[in-house]
Amino acid sequence: MDVGGRAHGPLASDAKLEHESLTATPGDAPSATSKSMDALVIQGGRPLSGRVAVSGAKNSALPVMAATLLASGQHVLRNVPSLADTRTMARVLGQLGARIEFSDHVCRIDTTDVSSFEAPYDLVRTMRASIYVLGPLLARFGAARVSLPGGCAWGPRPVNLHFEGLDAMGARLEIEHGYIVGKDVRLRGAHVRHETVSVGATAQLMMAATLAEGTTVIEGAAIEPDITVLGEVLVRCGARIEGLGSRIITVHGVKSLSPIDTTIIPDRIEAATFLAAAAITGGSVTVDQCDPEHLRASIETLERAGCDVHAGEREVRISGPVRPAALSVTTEPYPGFPTDMQAQIMALCTIADGESVITDTIYLDRFTHVPELARLGAEIRLDHNVATVLGVDRLSGAPVMATDIRASAALVLAALVAEGETRISRIYHLDRGYEALDQKLVDLGASVRRVKE
Ligand code: EPZ
Repeated sequence: MDVGGRAHGPLASDAKLEHESLTATPGDAPSATSKSMDALVIQGGRPLSGRVAVSGAKNSALPVMAATLLASGQHVLRNVPSLADTRTMARVLGQLGARIEFSDHVCRIDTTDVSSFEAPYDLVRTMRASIYVLGPLLARFGAARVSLPGGCAWGPRPVNLHFEGLDAMGARLEIEHGYIVGKDVRLRGAHVRHETVSVGATAQLMMAATLAEGTTVIEGAAIEPDITVLGEVLVRCGARIEGLGSRIITVHGVKSLSPIDTTIIPDRIEAATFLAAAAITGGSVTVDQCDPEHLRASIETLERAGCDVHAGEREVRISGPVRPAALSVTTEPYPGFPTDMQAQIMALCTIADGESVITDTIYLDRFTHVPELARLGAEIRLDHNVATVLGVDRLSGAPVMATDIRASAALVLAALVAEGETRISRIYHLDRGYEALDQKLVDLGASVRRVKE
C-alpha cells in the first residue's frame, strides 16, 4: 500500500489497498477503511492441531505509527499486522500529508511533508486509537485538530486523562464542533498522576513529552508491553525516558528526534486467543513467533482450566483438557489478566465443568458478547461487571452477530465447539484486530468459511 497524494477514486476493497497506491492530500475527504460485509460459517466439533504463527501486535503498531509524526524523515516499521486498524492509522497519517508505503508487513512512513494537523471525524470514529496523533502533532508542530473519538460498542470510553495531561503540559486545548483543538502550543514538562491506569493516556503523554521543554513525570503509568516498547523505540530515536516498565515514567524533553526503524512485537492477545482456541476444542497447538513472557497471566489461567502448557523461547505448546475446569477470573492492567481476553475466556467457561465467575475491572460494561453466547446455548448471569457462567454440556450452532474485536473472537471460539453450524455476521470487527484468523484456523484443522453477507 502506498499512501501520499490522491490519484485514484475511493477504493472498492481493502485487499486492493495492499498493492495499489492510495493517496491523500491534506484536507481531502478521507475514505474510511471500507467495512467488508463478510460473515464466517463455522462447523463445530474439530479439535485444533498444528502450529500457528502470531502476527505483529495491533496495540503496539498503532502508537508506533503515530509516533512517526514526532520526527521528520523516512521511518521503517517491520512486522506491522495487515489489519483494518493499521490501514486506518495509515489513512490518518496520509491525511496529515505523510507518505506511506505498506507491503508485506513492512510500513515505510515519510513524515517530511506533514502539513495538515487535522485527524477527521470520518476516520477517528472508525478507530479510537487515531487520537494517538494528538500528542505528537502538538509536540512537533504546536497545533492539532483531532476529532473526539466518542464511545464504542460497549459504552463510553473517556479521554479525559489524555486531555488533562496535555493541558497540564500547557496545551490549552479547546473542544470545537466535536474536535479537540490546540493552536500555537509550546509543550512544557509537567507532573501528571493517574489514579486509573490508562494505556492510551500513558502513550499519549510519553510521546508528547519527548519534545516538550523540561521534564515530565507520569505517575500511575501503564506498563503494558506496548508502552515499554514504545518508550524503547523513542529512546533509540534520541528521546530521554526513564522508568519504562515501572509505574513512574520520567521524560526529559529534547529538541528533536531521528526517524524510527523498528520491528513490531508479537501480538500477545492474538497468541492468547489461539491458546484459548486450543483449550476450548481440546486440541494440541503450538503458537509460534510469540513472546511467552507477555502471556503469563493467560497461561496461568489456562493451566487452572486444566490445560497442559509448555512455554519455549518464542513459542507456547498447549494441549486442552477433555473438559475445562470452572474458573474465577478478574481482569487487571498488565501484568494482570487482560480485559482483551475476557470474552474469549468466558467462551471457554461456557462449557466448563461447574460455575465460573468473571469480573472485568477495566471496562465495567464490556459484555456485548453475553447475549450472543446465550444464543449458542450458554448460561450466563450478569450483575454489573460480574458474569457468572454456568458451564453446559454442549453448545449448539446458531446465527450470531459480532459487536467488537474481542467479542467476535469469543464467538469464533464458541462456534468451534458448538454442535452444527454457526454463522457469525459483521466480522469486519474481527478483521480490525486479527490478521487472517479464519485462514489460520483452517490451517489448524477447523471448518471455517468466509462468505459474503
Ligand atoms: C487500550 O485501550 C487497548 N487499545 C484496548 O484494546 C485495551 O482494552 C485497553 O488498552 C486496556 O488494556 C489499544 O491499545 C489501541 P485505557 P485504551 O486508556 O488505551 C479509563 C482491543 O481490543 N480511561 O488503558 O483506550 C477507561 O475508560 C482494545 O484491542 C479514562 O477513564 O484503554 C478504562 O476504564 C479494546 N480516561 C481504563 O481507563 C481516559 O482518558 C483503561 O483504559 C482514558 C482511559
